[in-house]
Amino acid sequence: MSEARIRWISGPVLRAVTEENFALREAVEVGPQRLLGEVVSLDGDELVVQVYEDTTGLKPGVAIKGTGHPLAIRVGPGLLGRMFDGLLRPLAVTDSPFVTPGVAPPRSEALAFRPTVKKGDRLSGGATFGEATGTGGRAQRCLVPPDCEGEVVSIASAGNHPEDATLLTLRDAAGAIREIAMSHPWPVRVPRPVRARSPGAKPLVTGQRILDCLFPIGQGGKAAIPGGFGTGKTVLLEALAKGCDADVIVYLGCGERGNEMAGVLEEFPELTDPRSGRPLMERTVIIANTSNMPVAAREASIYSAVTVAEYFRDQGLHVALMADSTSRWAEALREVSGRFGELPGEGGYPAYLSSRLADFYERAAVVDTLGGGNGSVTLMGAISPPSGDFSEPVTSHTKRYVRAFWALDVKRAQARFYPAINPLASYAEDAHVFAEWWAANGNPQWLALRRKFLTLLDDQARLERMARIIGKDALPLRQQLTLFCAELVNEAFLRQSALSAIDRTASPARQSAMMRLIGRYIELAEAAVNAGAKLEALARLPCYRPMLRMSEEIGEQEGDKFAALAESVEREIGALIHAGERDDAAKAVG
Ligand SMILES: Nc1ncnc2c1ncn2[C@@H]1O[C@H](COP(=O)(O)OP(=O)(O)O)[C@@H](O)[C@H]1O
Ligand SMILES: [Mg+2]
Repeated sequence: MSEARIRWISGPVLRAVTEENFALREAVEVGPQRLLGEVVSLDGDELVVQVYEDTTGLKPGVAIKGTGHPLAIRVGPGLLGRMFDGLLRPLAVTDSPFVTPGVAPPRSEALAFRPTVKKGDRLSGGATFGEATGTGGRAQRCLVPPDCEGEVVSIASAGNHPEDATLLTLRDAAGAIREIAMSHPWPVRVPRPVRARSPGAKPLVTGQRILDCLFPIGQGGKAAIPGGFGTGKTVLLEALAKGCDADVIVYLGCGERGNEMAGVLEEFPELTDPRSGRPLMERTVIIANTSNMPVAAREASIYSAVTVAEYFRDQGLHVALMADSTSRWAEALREVSGRFGELPGEGGYPAYLSSRLADFYERAAVVDTLGGGNGSVTLMGAISPPSGDFSEPVTSHTKRYVRAFWALDVKRAQARFYPAINPLASYAEDAHVFAEWWAANGNPQWLALRRKFLTLLDDQARLERMARIIGKDALPLRQQLTLFCAELVNEAFLRQSALSAIDRTASPARQSAMMRLIGRYIELAEAAVNAGAKLEALARLPCYRPMLRMSEEIGEQEGDKFAALAESVEREIGALIHAGERDDAAKAVG
């Protein structure tokens, strides 16, 4: 192995001299503690190394050893249900409200294995050779690494095996033997290969009405969640992790404060999966690199997380990755780049900030896997722009690569309107694609209702501006009706507390029922106003309050309550319309 000597140290960055050959991006081990690092630049006999661990105590002259391969993590069925640091080393969670850096030994507990191939079979990269069942009782496919293929020379029999023990040997076309375990290493910065990428046509159901109905994201899609401090990014990402309909959740806590992340680490193991009733952790992987952990590892953590997500995708699963927050990742990039002495660009970030963001978001996709299945990785990244300014570099570059933009708004958050997504600043470019899915799932009016709600919210903003000048009462009745209906959409539909037992997540069926009922209410209210009814009269009807409160009062299994409420709406507003028409008739006669 090649060796170099440290010449210069600045935080996580080392310069070293060598007479031997190192490769760019080669993983290295530094000093007697074998600290993990990566070669980030080479110039003649000088190399620059980024170290992923605390470098305190390192001295010039200490040896750096090349490993001969790029920075890689070991992916395997044992990942589910566990917590790791940014380089996928198991995390120790202590009693203190902080996350302690992971120095724990590699994972080695045994998993139950069952072979699904036999001697003589030909296997290609990504093929399944067995099934592994971890402590959670969830069976997973054991995959041949994407870069291996050949004829089965031997295969282990059913039983318990450590994750990294050789279970399968393949002989490739050239006669070389490859030994394969349940887990295999994969370089984090290299996207795992797939057979084909296809545009997604199915939404990722998040359980959040404002997202699913107004700003939907597809399976394989990518969304950004920008928002100032305290606007609800973390709460929203957690709500998505708990409620979205992905098979596997990868939750990345990146550079946030340790005590915040400790909240996630404590809470998640307690949660049950609303879909299966089993512990949610069984289908979750948590990766944490908090602000007190080494900054360079934070830079790598985002790639570790997406590599883990791709690994589960390659098993034919739908995976959702939540990253909190990509701004802290970009800050790590900036800090490390500064120590390299690179020329800073916009906002002090390196010039390659934009292409690194693109590299990350490009790994979201729906794919035909090498193994012949279908899987997806959906990426959702929080952004914490300094002082909530969305024109700063991380937000503006991210905007170029995501299809959905869920802008959290300080004013809405201050009014405790959650989720504080500002419908006027947010967008979803693929929304129309999902109309077919909603139609097949009992809501053929989805697209029309979505348009209607968005138009109301847009008109509301304009009219409120005008009302501030001339007074609300001076607005014509029709415009007052618009404000009345927009208020109903906000209060009854968009407001959804992540802390509410009944409403923290909403199924597509319940969302559709609410959408239809509100749509019908608006139609009838318009007819009533056309027939001469006053808004006060509408607000006085007994059905008005239950309409406003339906999200908190009508739970998942109570569809008949929606039907009953719909009936009172028809009856009560119908009577108003009828009375108006009678008055008109009387006036005509008189
Ligand atoms: N969807 C929500 N439902 C209920 N409360 C929320 C919601 N989003 C945010 N909050 C409230 O706002 C606080 C701050 O949210 P948080 O996610 O920590 O903000 P950020 O991560 O953007 O700094 C939370 O502690 C919670 O009280
Ligand atoms: Mg947060």
